[in-house]
Amino acid sequence: MKDITSSDLVAPETMRDFNAFYQKLVNRQERLYRLDDFFGMGKAWIAFRYEDVSAILKDPRFLSDRRKFASQQQSSPEKSSVNELLEWFKSMPNMLMVDPPDHTRLRRLVSKAFTPRMIEDLRPRIQQIADELLDKVVSRGKMELISEFAYPLPIIVISEMLGIPGHHQARFREWTHKLAEGALNPGQANLVQEALQEFIDYIQSLISEKRVRPGNDVISGLLQAYDEGDKLNENELLSTIWLLITAGHETTVNLIGNGTLALLQHPEQMQLLREDPTLLPGAVEELLRYAGPVMITGRVADEDIEIHGTLIRKGEMVMVSLAGADMDASRFDGPERLDITRQETDHLAFGRGIHLCLGAPLARMEGQIAFGSLMRRFPNLRLDVKPEDLAYHYSTLRSLVSLPVSF
Ligand code: HEM
Repeated sequence: MKDITSSDLVAPETMRDFNAFYQKLVNRQERLYRLDDFFGMGKAWIAFRYEDVSAILKDPRFLSDRRKFASQQQSSPEKSSVNELLEWFKSMPNMLMVDPPDHTRLRRLVSKAFTPRMIEDLRPRIQQIADELLDKVVSRGKMELISEFAYPLPIIVISEMLGIPGHHQARFREWTHKLAEGALNPGQANLVQEALQEFIDYIQSLISEKRVRPGNDVISGLLQAYDEGDKLNENELLSTIWLLITAGHETTVNLIGNGTLALLQHPEQMQLLREDPTLLPGAVEELLRYAGPVMITGRVADEDIEIHGTLIRKGEMVMVSLAGADMDASRFDGPERLDITRQETDHLAFGRGIHLCLGAPLARMEGQIAFGSLMRRFPNLRLDVKPEDLAYHYSTLRSLVSLPVSF
């Protein structure tokens, strides 16, 4: 049994080549590793192999409710400085953080807005948004792809679905970044608290506005369900809106950013895609596998469970490495190769089991439109910095700070 530390997961060497780091761990004999202290949250286990990650995510004995995590109840010096607001943040009662039957109830309330057919209807509008963003930069011959394309595209789309006015969108980026970085850094509690308070105040004012002027949007639909009585409580309403705003853009930004970088680093694959746009759906799946935004997620054991001879005790946290699983050679032939024509598309970038990403059809379409538009409009797309000068956020998301390109 080998121990690894959570700082190994975000070390500068790891960030230089995430896939090499994960491939090395997947190829070792060990199935489960002990993590000393998962970013200040306490001891945890972590699995990297495809078979194990998939099995854990499908196993109902592994829960999503972080309140079941045993060390959550123990106090430590860091934890005593964390106030109630942060505790609430860590265990928000939205569908991602709860288990059946609450999960089933909460997911059902919004799932009708995310069916493949509903999403397909959004295609022309999403294409128009992508075109307008690219129109703004085309004469300049270059852009910072994250802030000028990858970020605004999904935030405009999810805001329109939720019924959030355009001029409010700029504030989300600052809040979500502070929260993502702060969550891994117990020393930044104040910053996190500030961002959290502003974000929550914002959602509350949005709810008040929608009460007065309801629209044909997801938030108005949730409010109606709330008003009808027993379908969701106030805390769930707030944290579901929160989840849809954050999950709806933070991850897709990185699919577009990481995916574009991967294509730029594999010009022959980019050329293939340019010549044959029918390859787009498969290319998006391969880019999700090769450079998936969500590298890690976690569960809590609901009872003592043995995995390959290791006993996981009730209340212990088990992290699963989606990025590791997608680099597993026993599942993907030559996983280190980017191959947009790959037949095995059964990646774990959207998770697995009952929490499988609700927004997957939307994210796939946004990816297809984003890559398709870049390929079509910019035949000379190239990286404007040396790859070694690119930096990633300190996060368990694979998230580029910036991506300067010219065309
Ligand atoms: C859940 C990834 C885009 C909404 C998840 C999970 C993953 C994931 C891995 C499962 C986490 C777990 O089991 O612990 C991604 C990636 C995306 C993306 C890689 C983009 C490339 C979106 C979008 C939305 C969204 C656009 C739209 C709102 C959700 C929701 C859940 C979820 C609501 C919770 C589902 C549940 O608990 O039943 N996502 N996501 N995601 N995602 Fe996404």
